[in-house]
Amino acid sequence: MKEEKDSRWFELECVPKDYIFSKEDRPQNLDSPVCDSIPVIDLAISKAANGHNQPVEEILKASQEFGFFQVINHGIPEKTVIDAMSVLKEFFDMQSKYTTTGTVPHKKGYIYTSSTDFMKDGVHLWRENIKHPCHPLEECVHLWPDKPTRYQQVIAAYLVEIQKLSSRILEMICEGLGLKQGYFKDTSEVQLLSSNFYPPCPDPSLTLGILPHHDPSLITLLYQGGSTGLQVMKDGQWINVGAIPDAFVVNVGNQLEIISNRKLKSVKHRVVTSTHETRRSIATFVNPSPDCIIEPAKILVNELEPSLYTASLYKEYVHRNNAFGDYTTAIQNALHFDS
Ligand code: OGA
Ligand code: NI
Repeated sequence: MKEEKDSRWFELECVPKDYIFSKEDRPQNLDSPVCDSIPVIDLAISKAANGHNQPVEEILKASQEFGFFQVINHGIPEKTVIDAMSVLKEFFDMQSKYTTTGTVPHKKGYIYTSSTDFMKDGVHLWRENIKHPCHPLEECVHLWPDKPTRYQQVIAAYLVEIQKLSSRILEMICEGLGLKQGYFKDTSEVQLLSSNFYPPCPDPSLTLGILPHHDPSLITLLYQGGSTGLQVMKDGQWINVGAIPDAFVVNVGNQLEIISNRKLKSVKHRVVTSTHETRRSIATFVNPSPDCIIEPAKILVNELEPSLYTASLYKEYVHRNNAFGDYTTAIQNALHFDS
């Protein structure tokens, strides 16, 4: 039968064979309730007169226990976020007609992958993805998609806000860990944006949107537009991250786990699909600059708590761990890494 020209890969009544994960990789207990125990932190609450800084204490506790938290009243204008979500939706909507996927466009500063060519052990993930470097912003912005025409302008405006929010959160983490102010100032660049489109799936028990992974970042800021699907490993169980419109999900990445000498945890997470809900997300990875030495902060290391990690240049870490998977080389090149 001739395939309809504009039909999309996910418009199906059952999950095609090559999208079905092996038994051990499939999600279990999909009907477990949405857990609201991942802390939601109100950034508008300011320092109390007694010197207690509530958001700082909450961020520290959440980063120790869950490695994840959500922030509300974060100060990013709603319009900036809505515009970014809508321009990314337009981008994904355009793809079936105009794009050949699976190749890293030469001299282009982005990578688009459709589910049809994104594989793990021969199995497709149930998503489409766009990734691009973002730092320095002025040098990257012109290499991003130019369709939709407002893509570059809208996403640049979004990233400026993300940079401000991430600096604010990192200052709070600094304070909470007892590091000197500005400790992360030179080591926290919003380097990479990765946006996902997860269409509804006829049978979520057979597939995944993203495989279980740790983020190789310092921290990650994720906007999920009030949709569910993100799951976090806690005490050996997958728990669901609640959908709070207008909140940002923040998680501790591997670099912050190292710097904090594992006081803060980089925790495994994944995305499950839904029969009825479309999930769209924008993940932004805040990373150290390539030549930064990553090691436990000196003041967090002592006789009782010896250093748990050896020092490494961030770029060497990325290289050694193939930190961004198939995209590592492309991303390293885009970031002017020289090794
Ligand atoms: C990631 C990630 C979750 C999502 O990109 O590292 O965990 O919802 N994304 O897209
Ligand atoms: Ni992640």
